[in-house]
Amino acid sequence: YLSEISTATANTNEDLEKFRLRFISRKGVLAGLFDEFKSVPNEQKREMGSLLNVLKQNAQTKFKELVDALEAQNANDQAADIDVTLPSREDVGSMHPLSQVKNRIIQIFERQGFNVAEGPEIEDDFHNFTALNFPENHPAREMQDTYFIEKNPDTLLRTHTSNVQIRLMEHGQPPFRSIMPGRVYRNEAISARAHCFFNQVEGLYVDKNVSFKDLKQTLYHFAQEMFGKGTQIRFRPSYFPFTEPSAEIDISCFICGGNGCKICKNTGWVEIGGSGMVDPNVLEACGIDSKEYSGFAFGMGIERITMLKYQIDDIRLFSENDLRFLKQF
Ligand code: PHE
Repeated sequence: YLSEISTATANTNEDLEKFRLRFISRKGVLAGLFDEFKSVPNEQKREMGSLLNVLKQNAQTKFKELVDALEAQNANDQAADIDVTLPSREDVGSMHPLSQVKNRIIQIFERQGFNVAEGPEIEDDFHNFTALNFPENHPAREMQDTYFIEKNPDTLLRTHTSNVQIRLMEHGQPPFRSIMPGRVYRNEAISARAHCFFNQVEGLYVDKNVSFKDLKQTLYHFAQEMFGKGTQIRFRPSYFPFTEPSAEIDISCFICGGNGCKICKNTGWVEIGGSGMVDPNVLEACGIDSKEYSGFAFGMGIERITMLKYQIDDIRLFSENDLRFLKQF
């Protein structure tokens, strides 16, 4: 039996089972020998007993070896089936068009010395309105279609990224030169043109002697980089509580080159955002001396810029996760 045990092999589960049945199982060789052991004369029990135990030890050790060897063999076979050099069958995914455009915007402004700042989407009245020179009960508050989480004191979903301006300025000292990308919320009916959430990027530059011509030059450079050399910019007088003077920013229509098309409604110009010189009241609300410092600010919709750049005609596509749309970028 000892030599039979030591030379046994198992290449399959059946071989293994055969070994188990022959030696280990209750009807196997060992069980039989232990049965016979009962009738062995007393003076031989000692010797027989130790021989039997050696045999049992050998059988059990061998069985465990065979199990381990077979498992290792199976794992090896499986590994040989895996070709780690094959390309994945899964789609690897791609960056969302809004992220691509946001990153490009950041890159353009970083090269002009702006850094990136972020702030909370859940905001209080002070940072979203009051510090931005929205008087109590002013109709401009209504214009923003605010989602309130709590009233008195007000907690709300920010309606613009201008809250980050305030958070930057109240805790630091000029100069400030930051852009502030992020999601904003407005209680608007969802359509191809408008959504109840979207992304803005705000820019703020505060230092001594900052003037409107710095604003113009900064945005002119942005338009060149984002929409192509030769893109013109135009400012139209407007109103925001936190800037004075205020202006809408238009760029020349890069699709028709100013000849008139659907995108620019035949005007040759498309609007990309708002801007202006930071109102002295805003600087003062943040503890900055408005006689010593001045600044400009601008805000643009990232969806809007992406839609213009790629001629996308429905804002809802950005949040529907339709792969047919996303795969085009
Ligand atoms: N916060 C304004 C808005 O959401 C945009 C803006 C930012 C305008 C900065 C001027 C200056 O409509």
